[in-house]
Amino acid sequence: MTTTAIILAAGLGTRMNTELPKVLHKVGDEPMLGRVISGLKKAGIKDMIAVVGYKREVIESFFKHEVRFVFQRKRLGSGDAVKQAVNKLSDSVGNVLVTCGDTPLIEAAAYRGIMKKHSSQRVSCTLLTACAEDPFSYGRIIRDEKGGVIKIVEEKDASNEEKKIKEINAGVYCFRKQDLEKFIHKIKINKKKKEFYLTDIIELLAKNGKKIVSEECSVEEIIGINSRKDLVYANRIINDKTLARLMKRGVTIIDTSTIFISEKADIAKDTIIYPNTIIEKDVVIGKSCQIGPFARLRPGTILQDEVEVGNFVELCRTKVGRKTKIKHHAYLGDTEVGSHVNIGAGVITANYDGKNKLHTIIEDRAFVGVGAILIAPVKIGKNAVVGAGSVVTKNKNVPAGKTVIGVPAKIFEKFNLVKI
Ligand code: UD1
Ligand code: CA
Repeated sequence: MTTTAIILAAGLGTRMNTELPKVLHKVGDEPMLGRVISGLKKAGIKDMIAVVGYKREVIESFFKHEVRFVFQRKRLGSGDAVKQAVNKLSDSVGNVLVTCGDTPLIEAAAYRGIMKKHSSQRVSCTLLTACAEDPFSYGRIIRDEKGGVIKIVEEKDASNEEKKIKEINAGVYCFRKQDLEKFIHKIKINKKKKEFYLTDIIELLAKNGKKIVSEECSVEEIIGINSRKDLVYANRIINDKTLARLMKRGVTIIDTSTIFISEKADIAKDTIIYPNTIIEKDVVIGKSCQIGPFARLRPGTILQDEVEVGNFVELCRTKVGRKTKIKHHAYLGDTEVGSHVNIGAGVITANYDGKNKLHTIIEDRAFVGVGAILIAPVKIGKNAVVGAGSVVTKNKNVPAGKTVIGVPAKIFEKFNLVKI
């Protein structure tokens, strides 16, 4: 028996105050819905149905190769959203996992966990829950004296006593397909919110003698993104995790509150990252480098071992060889820098001519003086020197071992020296 996942993603994202569909907002480097889909995929789910509504075409064009879609014409709540998807389930499906497109931090292990429990205990429904210090805005899990789940109460409908309950609903459920199909149509509209709450199915199942169990996971994992503030919180959780992983691997992070490193960056041991540094996706940093403070490494930056990148340096699609120093106020884009190179303060590669991104090559042991501008495409040969403030114009490659100075830069020969 297979499991199909239904992902609820038709909400308006009202509390987010956005024109972009909420589930397309990025958490880390990926849209929320993308994270949910990869989590489900990793948990072994092959068939997924996303329920879409607001700006469905934008969401569909993003994920058309990964999931099937159903359209929820009117936003009548999470219960109504599931209703749209149940008649798209194939006959071979035994269980249905329902999750939300706005809970992007739930990982494959949690999905696997509830599916395993659900199958081994042969229950009607398995819920994912967490214990929250501050349960505000989440549905609360109501249990009977024996500890069995009997109901979920939403914040708006909760009594003062119920509001004190710290056990919350993650919005992830594994249902036995026949029970879901039967009871989803029995949910009544919530009079206050004029919506069909999926959570009301729990009370219906319990009252009909169906068994419901729960699986607990950490509250940080189940955070639902409803507002811009939640987005900040989720990004902070991801960053903290990334920094912790890197520290374990032997990277020194001087200040976890101002250093942002993409989950998709790779940093080797004994490298030190100083405060206020941003390291974006697809950046690879070797061993024993020193980065920052105030450095920004953009996608496609690759640093070999023992490179030093100092304050106010921006690198983009740039490779840097061993023991090279780029210590102050520089921008290098689409550049290949050799080893033992010195890039002086304020050096800029002019890599964009208004139409194309063009390449700069700076070979081993070259010395680029303070404030030099290198207009791409251009190559600075091995051991060459570019004088301070020079502008090396495009295609005027500097031969190995030569020195250039001036604007535009010209080869500087000793016999040309004039005394002043
Ligand atoms: C929901 C749960 C709550 C749980 C929380 C976990 C309900 C009634 N409440 O609350 O118990 O603690 O998630 O994060 O389900 N959606 C649709 N169509 C609709 C309405 C919503 O597809 O008509 C989708 C949304 O896009 C979202 C999900 O359903 O992905 C949940 O809806 P949302 O409004 O965010 O519910 P919460 O108030 O967060
Ligand atoms: Ca939500």
